[in-house]
Parts: sequence; structure tokens; C-alpha cells
Amino acid sequence: MSVDRQPGFRLPAQPLVWGVSAGLALLMLTGILISQRDETRRRFSVFLAANPAQGGGVFREKGCVNCHAVNGRGGTVGPDLGRKRPDRATLAQLVTAMWNHAPKMWDRMRSEKVPYPSLTYDETARLVAYLYMSRHVDLPGNAQHGNQLFQSKGCIRCHAIDGKGGRIGPDLAHVPGLDSPVAFTRELWNHASAMQAGMEKLGITWPHFEGHELNDLFAYLQAANPQSNPGSAGVPGDPEHGWKVFQDKACMTCHSLKDEEGVGPSFGTNRTLPDTFLQVGGLMLSHSPKMQRAMEARQISRPQFEGEEMTDLIAFLYSLRYTEPAGSPHVGESVFAWRGCSRCHGDQAQGTKVAPALRGRGQNYNSISLATALWRHGNGMYRQSQKMGLSWPTLAEGDVGDLLAFLNSPVNARAARK
Ligand code: HEC
Ligand code: HEC
Ligand code: HEC
Ligand code: HEC
Repeated sequence: MSVDRQPGFRLPAQPLVWGVSAGLALLMLTGILISQRDETRRRFSVFLAANPAQGGGVFREKGCVNCHAVNGRGGTVGPDLGRKRPDRATLAQLVTAMWNHAPKMWDRMRSEKVPYPSLTYDETARLVAYLYMSRHVDLPGNAQHGNQLFQSKGCIRCHAIDGKGGRIGPDLAHVPGLDSPVAFTRELWNHASAMQAGMEKLGITWPHFEGHELNDLFAYLQAANPQSNPGSAGVPGDPEHGWKVFQDKACMTCHSLKDEEGVGPSFGTNRTLPDTFLQVGGLMLSHSPKMQRAMEARQISRPQFEGEEMTDLIAFLYSLRYTEPAGSPHVGESVFAWRGCSRCHGDQAQGTKVAPALRGRGQNYNSISLATALWRHGNGMYRQSQKMGLSWPTLAEGDVGDLLAFLNSPVNARAARK
């Protein structure tokens, strides 16, 4: 189903790429992938060159997986880089974590005789997108709590589990295809209209799903369903396709991506999303009856989801929050000195005998190129700091935006001479 530009059609304020129509965006994406120019990198989201699922491939190929797990799968030498990390994922936070832990990681690689991985810009972009998205993945839920919810939310009045329970809906221990938490959410959404009608008849209030409830319900059903295939969880979502889904399913008619109110609430970046995919799905479901009424009033047929569409849609909403940190070049100049970068690169990052110039070379840095530089040149930097008896310069998350603004600011001729 596709919806043409409606009066309510809105475009986001800070476009990643969405400053143009979708068709154009795709064309431009191809252009970006081919041209790889710095300028396009600066203007468009790192997600464009960066499909999180492909990042999972980089994570394995470059050997990160030998030392790190992501959400429980992988090595245990270094920390699990998935959801267990305490901090909320931002691009700056991920880059800062890599930067600060790099020397210990290199020492470890040296002692284990593992070669240093070398990453291109695109590989780094994919890798970081993967790590970012993996922090929104739902960890296995609590089946016992799910069992309680199945009763308290009234599911049991209509659904049986292996013969025990209601007969109005299908026996959920024998429904195929409920393999992943998002597939489960998708089926709930797709059948919500019919369920809602049945609930009204029985006087059951439409359930609201808070926190991890939906995930716990899934855990319970999965444990009860012999056909479900629990091995299929990975880092989900193709944000680029999700953008298409968002438009095709009419979400854009009612939900702005700018921070403006529409018929429904905005998904602009001023509004925080809940932590995980299923929590976003839970919001959709909880608000389903009111959305349905709003759709009926506008003669929009209720969208149904297939395959990975819902996953991609949610990944798209998270990708809008995956933005370059902003900063001030003036603060960045001070940070560059405070963190000790200037001791080797010079006050103005103009370069010295021991380290190369970082400014005035026509190069534009963003978080990804900073991380790429770390993987590519960091070991040389580390050796130089050991030679000079300096400790490794550690960064705070808030530094990244300021440092980048400083490195990208034009070189002031007077300052560079002194
Ligand atoms: C030889 C083992 C090894 C390999 C290979 C390795 N790492 Fe690490 N990594 C570590 C160790 C050990 C730490 C913890 C360092 C510390 O405690 O300061 C770490 C820390 C990190 C951190 C910081 C985690 C945090 O939030 O505290 C990130 C991010 C990271 N590694 C990413 C990567 C990526 C990406 C790759 C692949 C390109 C990789 N690592 C390859 C051993 C490794
Ligand atoms: C009033 C009765 C009723 C209640 C209460 C109810 N359901 Fe349903 N459910 C149905 C019916 C009827 C269908 C089939 C709808 C259709 O064919 O579109 C269904 C379909 C489903 C499906 C899709 C099955 C498939 O074939 O893919 C899932 C999953 C599901 N329900 C889960 C739940 C959960 C979880 C709850 C509790 C939060 C719940 N249902 C509460 C009646 C109900
Ligand atoms: C016809 C208008 C309309 C369409 C189309 C629509 N929604 Fe909504 N949506 C609403 C309204 C109105 C609400 C607020 C409902 C309420 O207050 O319970 C809402 C609420 C939501 C919420 C909960 C928001 C919150 O702040 O808690 C989510 C998530 C959501 N919609 C997602 C979607 C997605 C995804 C699509 C496309 C598949 C979509 N909506 C399509 C009107 C719409
Ligand atoms: C102990 C000296 C030293 C310190 C301190 C230092 N660097 Fe470096 N840096 C180097 C050296 C040496 C290289 C070149 C390494 C190589 O190519 O092997 C380098 C390379 C780089 C590069 C890659 C340049 C390129 O050609 O793309 C970047 C970016 C960079 N440093 C940023 C920083 C930042 C930001 C800081 C502060 C947080 C910092 N450096 C602190 C010595 C240092």
C-alpha cells in the first residue's frame, strides 16, 4: 500500500538524507556509495554507508568476535559490546569507548599475537552502526513473568497454550512463524483489529504493554511453541528500507519526524525512544485502538506488516537518533590542549616533528573517520606516547563533538604562524 503526498506529509528538520524525496534519496545513496567524497560524508548519515547487519560481518571478519561478544555471542577476552554496557549508546559514546580502551586492547593483541585489524572508513561505519543497533536488541525475556502476563492481560481467555485455555483465537503453541520477538509483535499488530473486536465483546480492556512485558510474553510463548526457532536472533534492521516502510505504511501521514505535532505524536529527535525494539513495538500495540480510529476517520486502511518490515521500521526510528555530535571549535581547541593532543600535534593541530598535521589538510573529520584513524594510526600514536613518557590521552564522551568542530575549522593563519 502506498500513500501519495498527503497534506500532513512532513520532512525531518535535520535530514540524514531525508531532505529529498525517497526516490531521490535512493539515487543519492548510490551516488554516495560510489563517490565516497568527504563532503557527502559530512552531510549525510554514516548509516548510509553503514548497514548494521553488514557490520556484523565486519565484526567477525576482523576478528573482534574472537575477543568480544555482542549480546552474549562471541569471545570473552574483552567486554561484551552489546546491551550489557551500562551507557546509552550514542555515536560519540561508542567512539570514545574505543579510543579510551585502545591501548589495553593493543597490548592484548600483541600478547596474543593477533594482528591489528585494519579498517577502512566504510568498514568502520558499518561496524559502529552494528554496535549501536545491537544495544537496542532485546535480551531473552523472562518466561515465568510472561506466563503471568498471559493470564493477567486476558490472553488466556481466547488463546490456549497446547490445549489449555480459550478457543476463540488460535492455540499459540501451534502457530508457526513466531520465531523472533519482533515477528511476534508483528503478528500481534496484524491481528490486532480482530482481537480488539473480540475483546470489546468480552469486556476485556485493550492491553497496554509496559517495559519488557512484550518480551517476557514472547519468551513464554517461545518456550511453549515447539515450532519456534530460537536460533534466529541477530542484530536486526535495515534502516534504509525502514524509511521506505515508514512512508509506504502511511505512518508519515500522522507522525512527523520533525519535532512538530501531527495527528499522532512526533518521532523527531527531541523525543526519546524507549530502549529496545520491542518496547517501541509495545507502544505501537498499546496505542493501536486509538490509531485505528484515527485511520478510520481518514479512510486510511490499517497497514499490515510482512517479513522484516516492522524490524526495519523500528531500526529506522533509531537511526534518526544516530547523529554526529555537535560542538564548538573554540571549546574543541581547549579540549585538544587539555587532553594532551596538542603536545604532539601542536596547539593548532598544525603538526610537529613527532605527529602529523590534522587541520588544514582539506580533510573533514567525523566520528567515523576519527574511529578509523584510531584503528589505522592509533598504534603508532600509542608507541609515540610511550616513547615520550606520556599517558594515553583519554576522552570524555562530550569531547568528541568539540574536537571534531575544532579539527574541521579553517586554519587561522596568524595562529598557525606563532
Ligand atoms: C585480542 C583481543 C581483542 C580483539 C581482537 C579486539 N578487542 Fe576490543 N577490547 C579488548 C579488551 C581486552 C578490551 C578492554 C580494554 C580495557 O579494559 O581497557 C577491549 C575494549 C574494547 C572496547 C571498549 C569497550 C567498552 O565500552 O568499555 C571497544 C568498543 C572494542 N574493544 C571494540 C573492538 C572492535 C570493534 C574490535 C575489532 C575491530 C576489537 N575490539 C578487537 C580485546 C580485544
Ligand atoms: C478476545 C479474544 C482475544 C484476546 C483476549 C487475545 N486474542 Fe490474540 N487473537 C484472537 C483472535 C480471534 C485471533 C485471530 C485473529 C485473526 O484471524 O485476525 C488472534 C490472533 C493472535 C495472534 C496471531 C496468531 C497468528 O496466527 O499468527 C497472536 C500472536 C495473538 N493473538 C496473541 C495474543 C496475546 C499475546 C494476547 C494477550 C495480550 C491476545 N492474543 C489476546 C483473539 C484474542
Ligand atoms: C491516521 C493517523 C495515524 C497513522 C496512519 C499512524 N498513526 Fe501512530 N498514532 C496515531 C495517533 C492519533 C496516536 C496517539 C494514540 C493515543 O494517544 O493512544 C498514535 C500513536 C503511535 C505510537 C505511540 C506513540 C507514543 O508517543 O507513545 C506509535 C509508536 C505509533 N503511533 C507508530 C505508528 C507507526 C509505526 C505507523 C505506521 C505503520 C503509524 N503509527 C501510523 C495516529 C496514526
Ligand atoms: C604522544 C603523541 C601523540 C598524542 C598525545 C596524540 N597523537 Fe595523534 N598521532 C600521533 C602520531 C605519531 C600519529 C601518526 C601515527 C601513524 O601514522 O602511525 C598520530 C595520528 C593521529 C591521527 C591520524 C592522522 C591521519 O593522518 O589521518 C589523528 C586523527 C590523531 N592522531 C588525533 C589525535 C587526537 C584527537 C589526540 C588527542 C585525544 C591525539 N591524536 C593525541 C601522536 C600523538
